[in-house]
Amino acid sequence: MSILPNLKKAQTVSSIKERKNQEPIVMITAYDALFAKLFDPHVDIILVGDSLHMSFGGEKDTLSATMEIMLYHTKAVCKGAKNSLVVADMPFNSYPTPEIALKNASKFYSQTDAHAVKIEGGTNRAHIAKYLVDNGIAVMGHIGLLPQNSRAEGGYKVKGKSETEQAKLIKDAKALYEAGVFCIVIEGVISSVAKEVSKSVNIPLIGIGAGNEVDGQVLVWSDAFGFFSDFKPKFVKKYLEGAKLIDEAISCYANEVKMRKFPDEKTSY
Ligand code: KIV
Repeated sequence: MSILPNLKKAQTVSSIKERKNQEPIVMITAYDALFAKLFDPHVDIILVGDSLHMSFGGEKDTLSATMEIMLYHTKAVCKGAKNSLVVADMPFNSYPTPEIALKNASKFYSQTDAHAVKIEGGTNRAHIAKYLVDNGIAVMGHIGLLPQNSRAEGGYKVKGKSETEQAKLIKDAKALYEAGVFCIVIEGVISSVAKEVSKSVNIPLIGIGAGNEVDGQVLVWSDAFGFFSDFKPKFVKKYLEGAKLIDEAISCYANEVKMRKFPDEKTSY
């Protein structure tokens, strides 16, 4: 049963931006209207993450997600989310130049009700973030471990272990802040380093595997609720044994069909 009353006001880019050093921001991914509707009363931001390509598409990484796929899922999430801020992930290679980025980001505004887009990268992508912001698109940044870099880097590597990496993270956050992004996801970063990065900018930092001293948290829903069990990163906490519950339910349904117990009188015309 829910422990939070559903008194939520509609979130906006400004209301999220104002949450620096305030009540932690709750963010989760969703990929369809059904789950967006379930999550909406409890969260501030719903991210249509390109992680859907792995957990739902069965791919080994996010790199082959396309604009078409992301638009389809963003449209669906917007149908289910009433009060949450909906952020659409720009897929790999959809923002190689400012002009292409604007062309693609604009599709999320013209074809869906998304409030903002998210792009991965720091100083190397600040000019793209600025171009989008200057052209009226709200942008969420994403620094630290960047899933779209996983093939180039040979895996998913925690960041902030060396002084060089720590300095880079602060430089990345500042560049995005100056470019005008309204908040930044910081992923896979040593907690004490994430805390320092958070202190270096006056916009919220939302952590995933970045400790507790940032302005909010995000989790991929299928990880958090135990539906995706191929692997479990250390930072994921399972709030539900989803796969186990489904396994029990589907086996019960299969047995009842085989034993002609379903449908019964109550479920027949
Ligand atoms: O794609 C995604 O779900 C994300 C989160 C990991 C932040 O980018």
